[in-house]
Amino acid sequence: MKSCAFQVRELLFIMIILGIETSCDETSIAILEAKKEKAYFFIKPIASVVSSQIKIHAPYGGVVPMLASREHTKNLPLVFRKVVQDSFDVKKIKQKIDLIAVTSGPGLMPALLTGVNFAKTLAWSWRKPIIGVNHLEGHLLSVFLPEKNKISLLPFQELQKIFPAIALIVSGGHTQLIYVKNIGHYQIIGETLDDAAGECFDKGARILGLGYPGGPAIAKEAEKYRIQNTEYRIQKLPRPMIDSKNYDFSFSGLKTALLYAWQKTNKKERKRLMSQFAFELEESITDVLVHKTLQAANDFKVKSIILGGGVTANQKLRLKMQETIAQQKNPFNFYFPLLQYTTDNAMMICLEAFFNISNKKLNYKNLNWEKINADANWRL
Ligand code: KG4
Ligand code: ZN
Repeated sequence: MKSCAFQVRELLFIMIILGIETSCDETSIAILEAKKEKAYFFIKPIASVVSSQIKIHAPYGGVVPMLASREHTKNLPLVFRKVVQDSFDVKKIKQKIDLIAVTSGPGLMPALLTGVNFAKTLAWSWRKPIIGVNHLEGHLLSVFLPEKNKISLLPFQELQKIFPAIALIVSGGHTQLIYVKNIGHYQIIGETLDDAAGECFDKGARILGLGYPGGPAIAKEAEKYRIQNTEYRIQKLPRPMIDSKNYDFSFSGLKTALLYAWQKTNKKERKRLMSQFAFELEESITDVLVHKTLQAANDFKVKSIILGGGVTANQKLRLKMQETIAQQKNPFNFYFPLLQYTTDNAMMICLEAFFNISNKKLNYKNLNWEKINADANWRL
């Protein structure tokens, strides 16, 4: 985003937001400074701590909700202490924070409740306003986040070049195509009918014995095959719903096809063909995601494609999307988040709260903790 050094900068409002995220298996707290100026949004991440529970859930091959909740309860005060130490120090923090933001949904109910209760207690004891925000909108907006202590100036004019857009939000729990008219104006145009894309990576990795989380494990194994470039010996896996006329997805059949193909493979051969299976699974998932996203972007005649969510850490997905966009007659602008903001983090929750307040022109000082609740199935 361009510098505005020579522009007249009139400050409309400034906020320091403390955000809390516990919807799945990361306990995260962050602090963001954000301003609305006459022609720009000013965005500056100040502190961020993400405590991952991967080791706890790994033996089960997926997130166990009650274990996640137990770990969040244990980690929240520790993560909070670390964020305070990394930002304004314990004596100043209360005075500095203008607003508390918390993920209210969607997510795992026992996990969400820990963050929501922590945030409400903090809001009550500090006498601060609090806002509950949507986890998936956070993923969608994470493209606007710069690195810690760096400043991003987002001109309002730039937004007109970005929107309308199609956002592909792909995580462990969700796979959605969203028509984004502007920040805050969303229409879900397609979603998965069964497993999410991240879930397919996770279950696929479990079948192949590659561990949890499956996305990075499959990507690493697939890369081995790309480097070896040996003869392709396995059968092609399906690309589910790639030619369907709608924007929905289905990944559970792909997982089953992988399972059958793997079971049919001679046990002695499996070790040698493992990287080919991982490669084929990654190719299949990314083919479907890219094809459907481009189909939606062309049909809705948007200006841009936006990626968000844990699966968009996948390099193959980014590359394939970029190459396919470049082949279009009218290429779309392409935005994806910094790697650190692809998986769950509280910084995106802070930013979402800021945009919510600045767009809806809410008097945020009236936002009260009594109205905040967790909603595991909150739809955007
Ligand atoms: O957004 P996220 O952190 O949590 C949810 O909201 O679900 O996404 C986690 C998902 C997991 O399924 C994980 O396997 C997947 O993102 N993931 C990846 C990669 N890194 C994480 N999938 C493919 N390739 C990756 N590099
Ligand atoms: Zn997520």
